[in-house]
Amino acid sequence: MVQPRCRIVGWGNCVPDQVVTNDDLARTLDTSDKWIRECTGIRQRRVAAATEFTSTLAVQAARAALDVAGLPAGELDLIIVSTATPDYPVPSTACLVQHALDASRAAAFDLAAGCSGFVYALTVGSQMIQAGAYRNILVIGAETMSRVTDWKDRNTCVLLGDGAGAFVLQASDQAGGVLSCWLGSDGSGSKLLTIPAGGSRCPASLTSVRDGLHYLKMSGREVFRFATQIIRRAVVEVTARAGLKIADIDLVIPHQANLRVIQSAARALELPLDKFFVNIDKYGNTSAASIPIAVCDAVAEGRLKPDARVVLVAFGAGLTWGAMTVQWAPAPSRLSGTGFQPVARKDKFAATWAAVPVP
Ligand code: ACO
Repeated sequence: MVQPRCRIVGWGNCVPDQVVTNDDLARTLDTSDKWIRECTGIRQRRVAAATEFTSTLAVQAARAALDVAGLPAGELDLIIVSTATPDYPVPSTACLVQHALDASRAAAFDLAAGCSGFVYALTVGSQMIQAGAYRNILVIGAETMSRVTDWKDRNTCVLLGDGAGAFVLQASDQAGGVLSCWLGSDGSGSKLLTIPAGGSRCPASLTSVRDGLHYLKMSGREVFRFATQIIRRAVVEVTARAGLKIADIDLVIPHQANLRVIQSAARALELPLDKFFVNIDKYGNTSAASIPIAVCDAVAEGRLKPDARVVLVAFGAGLTWGAMTVQWAPAPSRLSGTGFQPVARKDKFAATWAAVPVP
């Protein structure tokens, strides 16, 4: 039997309507728009309303991706949600999404690999397709980082944002799609990016809440150093695995953590910055959601041409990293007909969050 290829046939995203600018933060925090822009590239971020959760953002992004793919949710075989901010420790957010989509045939699970989670989930999904186990897989990166953010900590709160992005992966006998992938980890850096409480080591208690241990803590300098080195290494490795040279890459879509990290990686790879897609100014760091949100923006801006060779590269808590080379496929031909109209986000949203069950 010929091994199926894995193509990305649908993509979609969802960000909350609420915009929080740098100036908004500077009203209550010892920071400034100038510092945040110059040190991170961020101008604003989106923050979830009280009625929005990781699963509701995920469902919106998923519906948009299924619309692009022209695939009914009932034909999904598997849903993987990559998140560091699930609705609950138990059950998985993926099961909430499965129910809201009425994806009755799909298995569902969450995957945690910090900001690298989406590339990890894509790798798992693409390998399952290439192994012939499944035909249609929905992969989502979704986060409500605002729920684990200490809004009094200027070292972290200026960086983070909420949102979700989704891909539909499909088995295909055509060339292109996923060309190579590479994942890695180094747990010796586990303390550099952590939410100390809420797990088995430090269960929730009055003391843990009083001490703010349910918030994300980060050693920014060390993470910065790791990030710049690992992006270069991962891009070199995954490109070689695809049998390509760095010069063959049309676009790198990196995890959007800090513009200076991306600039430094571009220098290290001797690539012009315009080969890197950047939208951190609009959304901040949305963790596992940042790459699929960036891919959707790149499509909307016409930066992803059919057959473009693209590298997705991420790093994050764990420490973890992951990269994937993809030959971008044009959207399914039926979308160029007159019949396809994406559903307006607002209409779908009201229906969606009401549909998410609370166990
Ligand atoms: N506003 C104003 N000043 C600030 C702010 C702020 N928001 N944050 C820090 N500073 C100050 C510090 O207090 C310090 O002041 P001092 O010199 O008087 O002590 C000064 O700025 C420099 O602080 P550093 O922490 O050394 O600043 P740095 O240049 O390293 O930038 C940053 C900090 C932006 C966090 C950077 O280290 C970074 O981006 N690191 C990587 C983060 C990352 O990539 N995270 C990815 C994973 S996140 C995730 O997984 C969810």
